[in-house]
Amino acid sequence: MHSSINRRKFFRSATAAGVTAIVAGHATNAPQLMAQSNAPIKPIAIASANGLQATAKAMSLIQEGADALDAVIAGVNIVEDDPKDQSVGYGGLPNEDGVVELDASVMHGPTGRGGCVAALRNIKNPSKVAKVVMERSDHVLIVGEGALRFARAHGFQEENLLTEDSRKAWLQWKENLSTTDDWLPPHDIDAKNIGMNLKSVIRNHGTINCNAIDLRGGISGCTTTSGLAFKIPGRVGDSPILGAGLYVDNEVGAAGSTGRGEANLLACSSVMIVEYMRQSKSPEEACLMACKRIVAQTKMKRLLDDKGRPQFDVNFYAINRRGEFGGASIWSGAKYAINTGEKQSRLMEAAFLFKRGS
Ligand code: GLY
Repeated sequence: MHSSINRRKFFRSATAAGVTAIVAGHATNAPQLMAQSNAPIKPIAIASANGLQATAKAMSLIQEGADALDAVIAGVNIVEDDPKDQSVGYGGLPNEDGVVELDASVMHGPTGRGGCVAALRNIKNPSKVAKVVMERSDHVLIVGEGALRFARAHGFQEENLLTEDSRKAWLQWKENLSTTDDWLPPHDIDAKNIGMNLKSVIRNHGTINCNAIDLRGGISGCTTTSGLAFKIPGRVGDSPILGAGLYVDNEVGAAGSTGRGEANLLACSSVMIVEYMRQSKSPEEACLMACKRIVAQTKMKRLLDDKGRPQFDVNFYAINRRGEFGGASIWSGAKYAINTGEKQSRLMEAAFLFKRGS
């Protein structure tokens, strides 16, 4: 197992961004966390590796006094709006019909509320719609056509989310799926077995999760994604499911995920990570425990390598209310973004269970 002594030393010694407000009046089930309730608040933003800008934006808003939820949503909006990130929002890779369907969740620790949308079409910021579900409905999760109608009712503008790059990636996937259908990739007069060239197509599970603590000690999080590339229409991953792709408890901390949503839906890892932290595990230890649960739970041989390890990856990111942070993945090589008050965020190496190539 990967050692993270340097990272631990770092976050134990990390200082707050000049903030010394006091958390008061919070009940908690965890004595060890309760003992910390007079500790200075340490504002922080954590995100998946595609969240360098998102965490910097979230932190700059937090330092201006923003609520952590508004801050993380503004942060992930940068990635949702970015056509080059093909795993989130505008420009996300579409479903198998070539239609972009987006999932998102938000959770607001101070009020214990959450909102989510799934399989939402035509709206590029599902994170904003999820917040409106939380604030302006008596529901937590709205999906598909209902989510679109809800968004329209709240003034969200519809637009085509399929960029040319994502359309071309989808067409390449579709034309190379099979030698026995009628879709043909470019070919010449000598070509045979047309449609067997799928090696270059990556079906990503990319996503952004971003969690933060604000100046009042409020903890919130958001996870937003276009989900698995070329998925069956209506497929929903872990991102919009509270407890799986995101969970926040203001008395403990927050956790979120990226990677293979199907594995995480079966493990409900984000709520588990928060519960492990409630039982005094560090954020990194809690994330590693979630990875181990998924490994133990994965029994289908089609998902395992020749050593019985999952062939997929799942990544977790967590913060506790003391401002400590950590991340872990099943496989080595993952990173996550952190900002503890600096102008620019930095990438940290995630802990892991298995070294790639081993
Ligand atoms: N983790 C994102 C998804 O599987 O949809």
